[in-house]
Amino acid sequence: MSEVKEIFLKDYKEPDFNIESVNLTFELFEDETDVTNIMKIEKLDNVSDLVLDAGELELKEIVLDGEVLGSDRYITSEETLTILNVPQNFILEIRNKIYPQNNTELEGLYKSGAIFCTQNEPEGFRRITPYLDRPDVMSVFTTTVIADKEKYPILLSNGNKIHCHESFDTRHGVTWHDPHPKPSYLFALVAGDLDFITDSFTTASGNEVELNIYVDKGNSQKATHAMASLINAMKWDEEKYGREYDLDIYNIVAVDSFNMGAMENKGLNIFNSAYVLADADTATDANFMGIESVIAHEYFHNWTGNRITCKNWFQLTLKEGLTVFRDQSFSADLNSKEVQRIDDVKALRERQFVEDASPTAHPIQPKSYISMNNFYTATVYEKGAEVIRMIHTMLGDENYRKATDLYFESFDGQAVTTDDFLWAMKQNGEFDLEHFKLWYDQSGTPTLQVTESFENGTYALTLAQKIPNKVGGETQKAMYFPLKIALLDKDGNEILEKMLIISKESETFRFDDLVAKPTLSINRDFSAPIIIDHQGVDYPFLMKHDQNSFTRYEAAQEFAGQSMFKLIDGEDISEFVDAYGYLLDLELDLSYKALLLELPSITTLMQKQEVVDFEPLYEAKEKLSMMIAQRYETKLLELYTQNNEPNNSELDSLSIGRRALKNRVLTLLGALKSEKVLTLAKEQYDNTVTMTDKVVALDVLEMFEESERVEAFEDFYNKYKNNTLVMNKYFALLAASSRDGLLQRVQDLQSDAVYDEKVPNLVRSLIGVFARNYKYFHKKDGSGYDFVANKIIEIDKFNPQMASGLAGAFKIYPKMNEKNKNLMEITLKCVISTQGLSKNTFEIVNKILK
Ligand code: PHE
Ligand code: ZN
Repeated sequence: MSEVKEIFLKDYKEPDFNIESVNLTFELFEDETDVTNIMKIEKLDNVSDLVLDAGELELKEIVLDGEVLGSDRYITSEETLTILNVPQNFILEIRNKIYPQNNTELEGLYKSGAIFCTQNEPEGFRRITPYLDRPDVMSVFTTTVIADKEKYPILLSNGNKIHCHESFDTRHGVTWHDPHPKPSYLFALVAGDLDFITDSFTTASGNEVELNIYVDKGNSQKATHAMASLINAMKWDEEKYGREYDLDIYNIVAVDSFNMGAMENKGLNIFNSAYVLADADTATDANFMGIESVIAHEYFHNWTGNRITCKNWFQLTLKEGLTVFRDQSFSADLNSKEVQRIDDVKALRERQFVEDASPTAHPIQPKSYISMNNFYTATVYEKGAEVIRMIHTMLGDENYRKATDLYFESFDGQAVTTDDFLWAMKQNGEFDLEHFKLWYDQSGTPTLQVTESFENGTYALTLAQKIPNKVGGETQKAMYFPLKIALLDKDGNEILEKMLIISKESETFRFDDLVAKPTLSINRDFSAPIIIDHQGVDYPFLMKHDQNSFTRYEAAQEFAGQSMFKLIDGEDISEFVDAYGYLLDLELDLSYKALLLELPSITTLMQKQEVVDFEPLYEAKEKLSMMIAQRYETKLLELYTQNNEPNNSELDSLSIGRRALKNRVLTLLGALKSEKVLTLAKEQYDNTVTMTDKVVALDVLEMFEESERVEAFEDFYNKYKNNTLVMNKYFALLAASSRDGLLQRVQDLQSDAVYDEKVPNLVRSLIGVFARNYKYFHKKDGSGYDFVANKIIEIDKFNPQMASGLAGAFKIYPKMNEKNKNLMEITLKCVISTQGLSKNTFEIVNKILK
């Protein structure tokens, strides 16, 4: 690495200039794009030169207040364009060329198939034209897009359409104006030949908004679920947060090549097509839910992100943590609260807890970065959302609403900080925000150690925070958080439920006048994102009696996990197997029941190992699944038959619940690897009308060597080979396989006609899923590491963001056993010594190796 520049929060400085308005013209051609950028600029500080951010672009002309500047009036460097000696107020016109058709990084203006589209967050705009490409410079954008009429009938940008230019024979143009000042990262442009569906929404104040979703030709019927989700989100934000939409038009465009999920560009969201397109034949129930939540997430950004934006990128969680909390609340309101909470906690633990215990751990408000792209993390997003949730828990619905109203009133139209947000939260509550703020600055997952005693009718609960001395060189302090607990009597009745505030390193809470020692139900609803360390818990009792859906689930999970470690030590676990039978008979919401019956993931178990070794974990899980499947085979088959509705593709909660439970059962039975299960899975594949059922059937079939597997996968491939979204599932199923010889098969799949390394979704499905298939990725001959590392090096050359994402698979390095650790080290050293490695990949690998 030649120049690795680390950017620090403590060095933040306000901008020297303001760009009041910007007028952009794009002339799109097949071999180049001409950009004209006219900015009205005002000097804010006593400086002489204007330093603009500039990426790889070809300057054509610079004009200042009508005067063409000679080369002595400006300086270019690899990353900047400096205009020397500028006046107080001036108009700067820059003309430059870019080459979107060659843009493989998918940042700035690029082509996804035949569609021109943009991705500018966080720092893509500088690759379009020189600019003050930082979120605290907010400007009014007017944009004209000109392109070939036939190839690009649809021309879009932010805001409202103010002009159509039809007069250039084979070409045409459209001018868009966005009246809301915004930072450059929210700028967007799209040109293509697209189908669309349209609808409308009338806001609470009576404004009619036109809603359009643009998709590839022939796909418009697959956008109806996204449209319904958008309308639900608009309604919800009015009701729950009093937030209305503020333009006459809201456009969404789906593209196949996109580095992330979706982007909230003002009035013109651009989406990974995976989060727009769905029908029963091609999308799973989880896909439908994912679309609903991402559509809502991007819509909610209109207020939390766009109207009020971030002062600098260190504040990213200001918009992301808050917006994730908002989309989680929305999904909980629209679907099942209990299932939503468990799914959110599961995702947090699988991704964020792992990150927080790794060398890439960082606070939700990082203190420094090399590449901002590396900070769109589970920590900033999901832990950030948990932090907002704790505030909501401590304030309660009413005060939280007052506080968010105040936030919107106080900061509308501004670029602000997490401190500003906390200031608004503080106006209506009694909790100690100064102390609470540690959540923004300290990384790592707090562990709370629980000890109990009972004497003379008094129950004493001692809660001690295990505080590591130092994390990243910084002394750690005790955290401040809400902890919801309940005490249950010997019959399982609730004696009391209470929200404690935990603020000290250790504290004892006493409860008097009890007839007997109560049973503790702790961290109800997962009120704080922490780890509970509590020995000697009566899990079967809580599995039976705990009325809190989260802690009941937790009891089952903890008990299962503990039993698997007992299995590793060769101990008896019949108590768990008995308790599991009790769960099978419970009359509960079916989706919730499906979650209760799930065994803990390998990722969850791995977090409990001092030194990580995957082999025993896989063995223990297989063994436990087998014990359950054998003992309860009849019961499981009964549940399967009761809930199997091959012709039902409805999305109501009962239908979804039946599919979830039936498929959980099929997966459990899979452990038997019997003829009967093989037939059942094949029948499910052949007879069902839903993708949900097909995917689970294929996943079970993939374990078998028999011809049924081959047939089903061939059928699937032939049926869906022209649908790239379904092909993602195909590659992911194969890369997640547990059958021998996986690496070779994954290598071969790269030359499949459908596979394309330039499409991030496909890479994530094949290589990304392989890297999370621990059994093969961590194989003790080093073959998995070697393969993934070479992919990282190769992909880094054309899409660094995708490469550094894959490099994350190595972050478990310091916790691995000696053998794997040594192999990983050799591999990572090879990656980091690669000539011309991107700063994205460098930053991740360098942190891991340190
Ligand atoms: N801001 C987007 C979101 O959270 C995520 C994103 C970041 C997309 C960077 C692309 C690039 O909705
Ligand atoms: Zn977001």
